[in-house]
Amino acid sequence: MQMRELDTGGGSDGHAIPVEVAPHEGPTVPREGPTQPVRIPFMRPVIIAANWKMNTTPADAGQLAATIAARTEEPGVTRVICPPYVCLAAVKDALAGKNVFVGAQNVHHEQGGAYTGEISAAMLSGLATWVIIGHSERRRDQLESDELIGKKLARALSAGLRPILCVGELLDEREAGRAVEVVSAQLRGALAGKEVEALLAGGFVIAYEPVWAIGTGRTASGADAAAMAEAIRSCLAADLGWNSAAEQVPVLYGGSVTSANIGEFLSEHSIDGGLVGGASLKPDEMAGMVARAAVTAMARAAAEGKGE
Ligand code: PGA
Repeated sequence: MQMRELDTGGGSDGHAIPVEVAPHEGPTVPREGPTQPVRIPFMRPVIIAANWKMNTTPADAGQLAATIAARTEEPGVTRVICPPYVCLAAVKDALAGKNVFVGAQNVHHEQGGAYTGEISAAMLSGLATWVIIGHSERRRDQLESDELIGKKLARALSAGLRPILCVGELLDEREAGRAVEVVSAQLRGALAGKEVEALLAGGFVIAYEPVWAIGTGRTASGADAAAMAEAIRSCLAADLGWNSAAEQVPVLYGGSVTSANIGEFLSEHSIDGGLVGGASLKPDEMAGMVARAAVTAMARAAAEGKGE
């Protein structure tokens, strides 16, 4: 039996519905280079998520979203646009019926109350079905801890928001050979005590974003990003006891992704798409990235169809 990602075909609530958590053998996908095809346990979705950060206004966001939606109509790719809070309504209206999901860039961990300037999960109802959690810019600027990020994650899940949890190491941590250790600690900190079934049912996604690659024009190599994606799933499987369910979690790469370099990441079987900042504001770039993602989605579907 296969786990199915129901929203790739245009589900209404943006949720993956896993129907199978048990381990089983599945298709292989061809891996570029001299290595043998790699067996993956089932087909994970291919996701391109746009993080617009503090860009666009309610006056222009809808038009940009509509243009991107029209330029990225490719089969098999889950598209998500995460505009600033104040642009959510305009983007949601512009994307109505377009099979592109809307996400927020953050959510408060409390249900409501005296938190001036904050936005609760309930406030996002009807505006967004996805949410980015623990972005490194918020870890840096708002000093978000792993514990707080874990609470936001729980809040998002209970509100039916599909979470993209961001993790990633600083440059000095990578240079000291501590990247896996740092990312694993972030995962354990945010995910400790959470039910794997609830996370999978909520469509949980991880974005590996090395901090030194965000907005810098520098990227991890495809091989390094893939190694980290594998380390992330090992951490989920072993440290957090998720075992084979770890294979079901989509892992995106983020950090200076463009239409020119996304192929390097998508040709890695362990990487399931991109969380894109700067390039996601450019329709040409989005068109190129989603077109490349569609190639990966088609290859995965073909491999699954053949039952390889
Ligand atoms: P970038 O941002 O693509 O501009 O590097 C990625 C992100 O922060 O999600």
